[in-house]
Parts: sequence; C-alpha cells; structure tokens
Amino acid sequence: MRLILLGPPGAGKGTQANILSEKLKISTISTGAMLRNAIRENTELGRRAEKYLSDGQLVPDDLVVAIVKERLSRDDCKNGFILDGFPRTIVQAEALDASGVKVDKVLSIEVPDETIVERLSGRRECKSCGTPYHILYNPSKSGERCEKCGGELICREDDNVETIKKRLAVYHEQTEPIKGYYGKQGKVVSVHGREKLEDTVKEVFSALNIDTQ
Ligand code: AP5
Repeated sequence: MRLILLGPPGAGKGTQANILSEKLKISTISTGAMLRNAIRENTELGRRAEKYLSDGQLVPDDLVVAIVKERLSRDDCKNGFILDGFPRTIVQAEALDASGVKVDKVLSIEVPDETIVERLSGRRECKSCGTPYHILYNPSKSGERCEKCGGELICREDDNVETIKKRLAVYHEQTEPIKGYYGKQGKVVSVHGREKLEDTVKEVFSALNIDTQ
C-alpha cells in the first residue's frame, strides 16, 4: 500500500497513520515530524523551516520535496509507505509524480473547521516518538506519559488558536486543491473524522478494504 493521508490540521492524519502503520507493517513518513525533529536538532533544515512552522505557513516546496525524495529512497519504503502531510501543494504532488513514485490511494479525512480548534487545543504529543493523544478523545493509558515509549506529553507550539486559524486558511487555499488533482487520477477516498476515534478507524479500514481482524 502506497498511501497519502490528506486533511486539515488536526483531522487525525497522524493518529490514523500510526494505526495503519502498525496494521500494514509499513513506514509512515510525516513531513511535520521530520521538520520538528530538524528544528529540535538545530540542523540547517531546521533553522530554515522554523519560522514557517511557528507562523503556521508552509515550508518552501523545494526543501520539503528534497527530504521526502531522500526518505522514500530508503529500503523500508520498498514495500509501501504512508505519507502524512505530504504533498501539501500541487507543486509537491507534481514533483512526486515526476519522481516516478506511484501512489495507490489518497485518503482524505474530512473534519469541519469548527471541530479543529477544540481538537488541537486538547492534543498532547509525545516529545520522544511524536505519538498524538487527546485529553478527552484519545487519552494515553499511561496518564501524563506516552503509552508507547514512556516519553513526556507536551502541547505543540503551533497548537494555539491564532496559529491554528492560519494553518486552516493555508490548508483550504493551498492543500485542498490536491483533492481535485488526485481525483482526476481516480485515487481519492474520503472518510469523516468522527468524534469517536474507533468510528473513524472503522471507516478508514472499510474505505481502504483492510480486514479489521
Ligand atoms: P503537520 O505536523 O503535518 O501538521 P498538520 O497537517 O497541521 O496536522 P496535525 O499534525 O496538526 O494534525 P493531524 O491531522 O495529524 O491530527 P492528529 O492525528 O494529531 O505540519 C506542521 C507544519 O509543518 C505545517 O504547518 C508546515 O509549516 C510544515 N509542513 C509539514 N509538511 C509540509 C509540507 N509537505 N510542505 C510544507 N510545509 C510542511 O489529531 C489531532 C487531535 O485530534 C489529536 O489530539 C488526536 O488524538 C485527536 N483525534 C484524532 N482523530 C480523532 C477522532 N476521530 N475523534 C476525536 N479525536 C481525534
């Protein structure tokens, strides 16, 4: 399975990517996580990307395309992958096509804007492995710690109301048109990012024809 996850900030792309990755035994490539790691490690990429993330804007296409191409060339992507947060512009989608990487499906997770602010205000993310939780809808079974690795749970810097609104505007303007791009290729399947996580998971598995057992 070579899958793209599409959806507004806070739609649940990272959450579904984690679940699908475990189920299908394929790697997830999250450009957001890669960029946040680069910022934490103060690399050249991190220094160039930081201002865009904190302002809720997209990092320039050439920077992101380069890191994704390199990541996709590694061995663990040979049998499939999940792209979470890429492509995010038509230019990025065209660059992926031009590089010869074929995707099977584009899963669009639909969540209304009104729900997003509440979702992201309650999100907690593991500082070590990046697993997302929600204080109400998807709490960690280990309380204040990550249930997977025991890492500290933190609020992301771009999860404040002002930046969330900017990220939503950027999504509608620059990323949503990608649905039309892949729609023409007959690859888009849409699901509702429902209030109950288990309902969304069921819908996602059904849309992708994945056995729930
Ligand atoms: P990125 O990290 O990709 O952020 P995003 O797209 O804004 O998405 P989020 O990670 O905020 O949300 P999500 O959809 O993964 O939701 P989650 O599963 O956490 O990008 C960050 C920044 O990096 C960008 O702004 C940009 O600057 C830069 N960037 C990244 N990629 C780029 C690219 N390709 N080009 C240029 N720049 C790029 O879920 C959210 C919350 O909801 C959680 O608390 C979760 O527990 C909860 N939840 C999930 N599903 C459900 C459900 N069904 N019901 C109830 N709660 C749920």
